[in-house]
Amino acid sequence: MAIIGLLGAGKIGSQLARLAVAHGYDVVVSNSRAPETLTALVADLGPKARAATAVDAAKAGDIVVVTIPLKNYPTVPVEPLAGKIVIDTNNYYPQRDGHIAELDNESTTTSELLQAYLPTSKIVKAFNHIYATQLTTDGRPTGTKNRRALVIAGDDPAAKATVVRLLDEFGFDAVDAGPLKEGWRIQRDTPGYGPQRTAEELREDLAAAKRYADR
Ligand SMILES: NC(=O)c1ccc[n+]([C@@H]2O[C@H](COP(=O)([O-])OP(=O)(O)OC[C@H]3O[C@@H](n4cnc5c(N)ncnc54)[C@H](OP(=O)(O)O)[C@@H]3O)[C@@H](O)[C@H]2O)c1
Repeated sequence: MAIIGLLGAGKIGSQLARLAVAHGYDVVVSNSRAPETLTALVADLGPKARAATAVDAAKAGDIVVVTIPLKNYPTVPVEPLAGKIVIDTNNYYPQRDGHIAELDNESTTTSELLQAYLPTSKIVKAFNHIYATQLTTDGRPTGTKNRRALVIAGDDPAAKATVVRLLDEFGFDAVDAGPLKEGWRIQRDTPGYGPQRTAEELREDLAAAKRYADR
């Protein structure tokens, strides 16, 4: 079974770690500080979890999740993530991240920035539009009526297929928004960002999304 590495152990990172452990995965969690700062979280997660530095979590993970304030993406270790599937949960909040011109003018997307920074990694956008607490409450078995769906986007079909399987294991349907450049359709303030939606509803939300400049 794949080991899941987490860069970021805050609201989303810790909940994704919980979800992964609940589904039998080993996880390696990290934050911007020393692993000892994650002792309480690791104790809570149990024997399938350990803490490491961000570099070691990136090395250990077969699949690695980057779930940090977006502005910090240039500190993510590059070499240990080469060739790996990297799940990107990040969103752009100028009040937290400062202004990033290419995102303000929508000439790129958050995940394309990370992809450019990690050129040989296979970035898949996922888990960016669900509240952290709902990750462990909203999952349902495959085939459940009105099952919640989550959007993915990515440029590598095989990596996306792996993440779709992971989402299904974790209790969610997946809706493929297309390549990373289409990730804006699920960015902050779009219709699908936040609410509990089925796959059909989420497809409608993606189609109805408007660029910031067109509102
Ligand atoms: N909260 C939500 O419900 C939610 C939902 C979907 C998506 N998101 C997005 O997901 C990302 C994470 O959100 P969050 O709410 O989980 O944030 P958070 O609670 O503030 O946690 C951020 C985590 O990232 C760590 N971190 C910061 N820089 C790092 C680095 N360079 N390397 C490794 N770890 C680093 C922090 O470690 P330290 O404690 O050491 O600083 C902390 O563990 C954000 O981009 C956010 O917009 C959030």
